[in-house]
Amino acid sequence: MTKKILITGGAGFIGSHVVRRFVIQYPQYHIYNLDALTYAGNLENLRDIEEAPNYSFVKGDIVDADFLDQLFAEHDFQGVVHLAAESHVDRSITDPLAFVMTNVIGTVNLLNAARKAWKGNMKDRRFYHVSTDEVYGELHDPGEFFLESTKYDPRSPYSASKASSDHFVRAYYNTYGLPVVISNCSNNYGPNHFPEKLVPLMIHNIIQNKPLPVYGKGENIRDWLYVEDHARAIDVIYHRGANGETYNIGGHNEWKNIDLVLLLCQIMDQKLGRAEGTSQQLITYVTDRAGHDLRYAIDATRLKEELGWEPSLQFAEGLEKTVDWYLTNQTWLDNVTSGNYQKYYDAMYEGR
Ligand code: NAD
Ligand code: TYD
Repeated sequence: MTKKILITGGAGFIGSHVVRRFVIQYPQYHIYNLDALTYAGNLENLRDIEEAPNYSFVKGDIVDADFLDQLFAEHDFQGVVHLAAESHVDRSITDPLAFVMTNVIGTVNLLNAARKAWKGNMKDRRFYHVSTDEVYGELHDPGEFFLESTKYDPRSPYSASKASSDHFVRAYYNTYGLPVVISNCSNNYGPNHFPEKLVPLMIHNIIQNKPLPVYGKGENIRDWLYVEDHARAIDVIYHRGANGETYNIGGHNEWKNIDLVLLLCQIMDQKLGRAEGTSQQLITYVTDRAGHDLRYAIDATRLKEELGWEPSLQFAEGLEKTVDWYLTNQTWLDNVTSGNYQKYYDAMYEGR
């Protein structure tokens, strides 16, 4: 019998890669992609699989508890992979409440809907909550890494809202026996990334010959993972992770922001046929982000030893693939920057 799996936030960056992977790898599943289509949701990300017989799109808001209860009553979901979130730290600094609504209230609504629908029948169910390494706070000592046992210390409204949602997920395991699993991943990069985040913003601005805004001195460090490697880790953990457990996912790939921007400039100069050193002249140091976390770095040993997952791509290869994708998909970028992508849902789904 077909198993119904609900993936939330599937029109976003990481969610679209997870949806595609599940739709293609598991024809025995029917994937329901629930997404509110906020500014970050873009159905063009899923154009290649939107007609697949085991895929359905559902437009809806996880902040609406009644809507979720109805959806769970209508479909006997075997599992949930929860990615829907407000995800950008800078936006969380200007509008923290939006992060409380979606990331905290929305997650609790989803937990409640699953708990009610699965009451008395939790066997073979799974509630997978996708989280971030930012819940652990920041690192200073170069020898230190985030472990699954690292104490939570969120420092931005974004990471505070994700930490809160993680606590609720664990509380539902402990209190109601909801079969949950959580993963905390480092920074992702790759195709379909909204150009407000570092990597796609820099690629976009280099193409457009616009200033490249580097916060502070550019010395903050992030650990970068190719998005398809994250989607594969989610697949592995969804199917083989243990209930009530947490798995860290990371790229073993730390870069200072300024070094990453310089590398991107170098790759883009080659690809665009510009003289070496041209794009880096666009680098502009700007006022630092408030409360800017210094360094994130994941120790993903547990995932490797227990479930055999490791990153597959070297950074140079992943970054080149990413740059190539943006260069060959400039219409995607144009549609996102012009706002046209938001008309895609109406064109594809309204009146169906
Ligand atoms: P994104 O911002 O690209 O996409 C988020 C998606 O959620 C969008 O499609 C949006 O429309 C949808 N959404 C937002 N609010 C909603 C609501 N109220 N109801 C229904 N849908 C809603 O985010 P992303 O970068 O793909 O991140 C996905 C998940 O992975 C998030 O939970 C994030 O915290 C986590 N994560 C992201 C990274 C990263 O580097 N981007 C790293 C680790 C973990
Ligand atoms: P971002 O992509 O927003 O991810 P996060 O803050 O969740 O790690 O930012 C990555 C790093 O790049 C972070 O240290 C902030 C920095 N940054 C810039 O220097 N300039 C920018 O324009 C952006 C968006 C980020």
